[in-house]
Amino acid sequence: MEKLALHGGPKAKPTSYNTPNRYGDEERELINKVIDSGRLMGTDGMVADFEAEVAHAFNIKHVIMVTSGTAALHVALCALGVSEGDEVITNPMTDMGTTAAILAQNAIPIFADIDPQTRLICPDSVRKLITHRTKVIITVHMSGLPCDMDIFMNISLESGIKILEDCAQGHGGTFGGCHLGTIGHAGGFSMNESKQMSSGDGGFVTTNDDETARIARLFRDKTYVRDRKVTRGEQPVSFFAPNYRPTGLQAAVGIAQLHKLEALVARRAAIVKRYYNELSDLPHFELPHITSGSQPSYWPLAAQYTGDTPTRDELAETLRAEGVRLDTGMAAVNNILRTELIQKKKYYPLTDKVPSFWRDTTYDPDSCPHVDALTRTCLRLPVDQRFTDEDIDQTIVAVKKVWAHYFE
Ligand SMILES: Cc1ncc(COP(=O)(O)O)c(C=O)c1O
Repeated sequence: MEKLALHGGPKAKPTSYNTPNRYGDEERELINKVIDSGRLMGTDGMVADFEAEVAHAFNIKHVIMVTSGTAALHVALCALGVSEGDEVITNPMTDMGTTAAILAQNAIPIFADIDPQTRLICPDSVRKLITHRTKVIITVHMSGLPCDMDIFMNISLESGIKILEDCAQGHGGTFGGCHLGTIGHAGGFSMNESKQMSSGDGGFVTTNDDETARIARLFRDKTYVRDRKVTRGEQPVSFFAPNYRPTGLQAAVGIAQLHKLEALVARRAAIVKRYYNELSDLPHFELPHITSGSQPSYWPLAAQYTGDTPTRDELAETLRAEGVRLDTGMAAVNNILRTELIQKKKYYPLTDKVPSFWRDTTYDPDSCPHVDALTRTCLRLPVDQRFTDEDIDQTIVAVKKVWAHYFE
């Protein structure tokens, strides 16, 4: 048996992963166009072009570009009618942005557990949490794996609760042949640099509903009507709204990135197919169950280690020593339920005052055991469209080598 790199043996993945600059000539060309126009600000021009291109590519009526994924979810929640004291159900294994968007709308985040097979928000757990105050369910397509939208749209039909798809990690994924973000009442996408489409930072809302889109457009821009018919000084300012306007520079990069999306999704799918084909049979090694009828837009793929000895952390250290790029966290925060923000309802930095809409809510930190189980067992394999076939060959060899050492 080959000696582990951890014990001084040769690395199974001796070369670093291929990750050339993801931005190139098209981004540069479109940015130059914006600069040459002399106007970076405004949601007409390149921002409108970006929205039209995404709408066409995703087959959705309205796209509203904003400054981040968090902003997209906040705008969508407002446009779906969420107001103070409403409850919004989501799962606590997601980015903070999902929860921040709920709290920013003075609504109460309620946390459902994940399904242990799909690792996505669990419909049965959601059903148990529905009350007369539930206004929206946010289905997070975590790691680009699509939630079963048929089940959630049925819950919506039965209850009248609206569905917001958090597609921050799901650009280009589909369920039932439809793009993620086009099935629920609205979708929210991030374009921060870790995402399939990046504009450095940025995001967008998707919806087929005209009224939702109208409100979303007003909410991203202080409710200003950017229309020559409104004289300076005469803006109606019809309700409270912040400024989530993106610039033309972000839109320029976003358009170029959209043009690369289809190839990116296909390449990532090919990489992940190899992981499933070549690693699924390893003992104590489980890959997520993919929702039937869906096509994921893959991210790093979370394997679960189901053994006891060695520990998950020892395995991770051994794999990293072999040269494998590996994470043990699913997100920046593994379980939002366990944060100080939620446990202490610490809304403000300099006072312990809890806003009145949140005062009566209590959170059991142990109420999402499947989230905690995934946190303890997760080994996230690297997936990136820029990797070479050799990168994947060596990663697979490394995992097999480590498994052979411990389990044969
Ligand atoms: C699932 C999920 N939701 C929301 C967000 C928030 O997006 P942003 O960082 O652009 O605000 C992210 C980004 O990390 C995310 O991954």
